[in-house]
Amino acid sequence: MRERLIVANWKMYKTAAEAQRFIQDFLPLLHDTAQAIICPPITLLSKMHSLCAGSRIVLGVQNIYWENEGAYTGEISAMQALDAGAAYCLTGHSERRQFFNESAHMVALKTTAALKAGLKPIVCVGENFTQRENGQTLQILHDDILASLKGIEATKCLTIAYEPVWAIGTGQVATPQDAEEAIAHLRACLAEIWGELAAEIPILYGGSVKPDNISALLACPNIDGALVGGASLSAAGFAAIVNTAKN
Ligand code: 13P
Repeated sequence: MRERLIVANWKMYKTAAEAQRFIQDFLPLLHDTAQAIICPPITLLSKMHSLCAGSRIVLGVQNIYWENEGAYTGEISAMQALDAGAAYCLTGHSERRQFFNESAHMVALKTTAALKAGLKPIVCVGENFTQRENGQTLQILHDDILASLKGIEATKCLTIAYEPVWAIGTGQVATPQDAEEAIAHLRACLAEIWGELAAEIPILYGGSVKPDNISALLACPNIDGALVGGASLSAAGFAAIVNTAKN
């Protein structure tokens, strides 16, 4: 049985006061055994660590740099993220690739650094609208996951997220069939390099996940959870998603 993970990516949203309010509202809504990972902006990590102490919320960061320390203004290392309370780290999110020119090579460096420090990477890949329209989705996913994991030894400490770029923040969720096809394909690509361990790696879907579409996505055999942007900003909305995943 693969682990089921529901991950919030808060992107560049929320102040400290807003985060505090969120946690106050969110924790009482969680069903008994429900758990979640929240990736807040880095400014909130230490505060969130205190706010979430003793709860079933685990924290992650949205980005790291691959060096341990040094003169890299504005960056944070995997060690620093761990030190501030993170257990997970997103790598290769499409917004980092698109707006900050992150290449698959850089994603592999960051993923390697995360693993080395003991931070669990959630490696994101996904095709854009034009690539899907041109029938290139499966090829893009194949090339991207292999390049993003280049040189990384098989490990159960890693999660993959399939996030089609056209579904992010658009309200246009992939159909469960399309998401399942892409994720099953990613698992097959992973098996090319990691063999049987590929069957044990959680692969999440991300892109306009909402309380009303999470059940159908999780009903697919290869979809092990969700990476949630917009809907994770509301305590009630995110609690509904997390509770559904647990039922
Ligand atoms: P939305 O859920 O807002 O579409 O964002 C998805 C995402 O990018 C999560 O990392």
